[in-house]
Amino acid sequence: MLRNELSVTPSSGEQATCGRCGASFLRLAIGLSRRRFCDVCLALKEREEHDAALVALREDFRRQSGLPFRLWKKTFASWEGESQALNLVKAWAEGFRCSAARSYKSLYLYGRENGQGKTHLAAASCNLIIDQWEGDVGQRRLSPVRYLSAPALLARVRASYRADAAETEEQVWDDLSHVPLLVVDDVLKETAAAGQDQAEASSHTQRVYFRLVDSRYGEDLPLLLVSNTKLSELERVLGRATASRIAEMTGTSIVQVLGKDRRWKEKDAEH
Ligand SMILES: Nc1ncnc2c1ncn2[C@@H]1O[C@H](COP(=O)(O)OP(=O)(O)OP(=O)(O)O)[C@@H](O)[C@H]1O
Ligand SMILES: [Mg+2]
Ligand SMILES: [Zn+2]
Repeated sequence: MLRNELSVTPSSGEQATCGRCGASFLRLAIGLSRRRFCDVCLALKEREEHDAALVALREDFRRQSGLPFRLWKKTFASWEGESQALNLVKAWAEGFRCSAARSYKSLYLYGRENGQGKTHLAAASCNLIIDQWEGDVGQRRLSPVRYLSAPALLARVRASYRADAAETEEQVWDDLSHVPLLVVDDVLKETAAAGQDQAEASSHTQRVYFRLVDSRYGEDLPLLLVSNTKLSELERVLGRATASRIAEMTGTSIVQVLGKDRRWKEKDAEH
């Protein structure tokens, strides 16, 4: 009896050479598979495969998120110059956890001028939050972040009214209500050019913005809103119910971006 037990101890393995580091290791005779790597290299290989799968999944999230390709490389590190807005938005994004998004504060990012870097900061947040995502890579996953522009959302809702529409309006809200972070850029861009006084929005526009904000409010999930319009002006254009919900969702997380239009910087340099 004792003899039989002893015959299946590890000593029944064979000496082998690791296909990676060349070290010699004891290959145990387990089943039919023949290990090619030593314990250290096997662990390293598994870690590398896991990391590569994580990188691929994050790239897939970026594609799924709706973030336009030119914003994929916008990061807090590629922001030039110091600004309070940078520090505040960065701290907000660093604190965001995809697995604990409920009740996380929404962020309202605004600045009157065009080309101040508002979209840059919003994209940097999306990219950081996707890069911070830590989950089970083995599971098929939906992106934890969605990015869309308000004019595109309004057009999408309008398209849902057509008889041959690909989706109903309810499906649009269902699609946008549950994602951990929803980023809506260019809020109120459609109603007036920046720098001008904005008239009250059409009742359709008011209704769409209300549904957008209320669907996230109801789920207790955050929004990152980006606009040329400050919140008090938004209240006048969109109505109190929408502004009041945004105010509760953001609390003190209202960030103003200052500065000139950087899109013109090369042109300015010529003069
Ligand atoms: N501080 C900055 N550092 C580096 N690049 C910047 C900075 N601010 C703006 N940019 C760049 O300038 C361009 C315009 O910025 P962005 O699109 O973010 O402006 P915006 O404030 O969203 O403008 P708009 O109100 O017209 O939407 C982008 O290419 C952006 O990356
Ligand atoms: Mg922008
Ligand atoms: Zn090895």
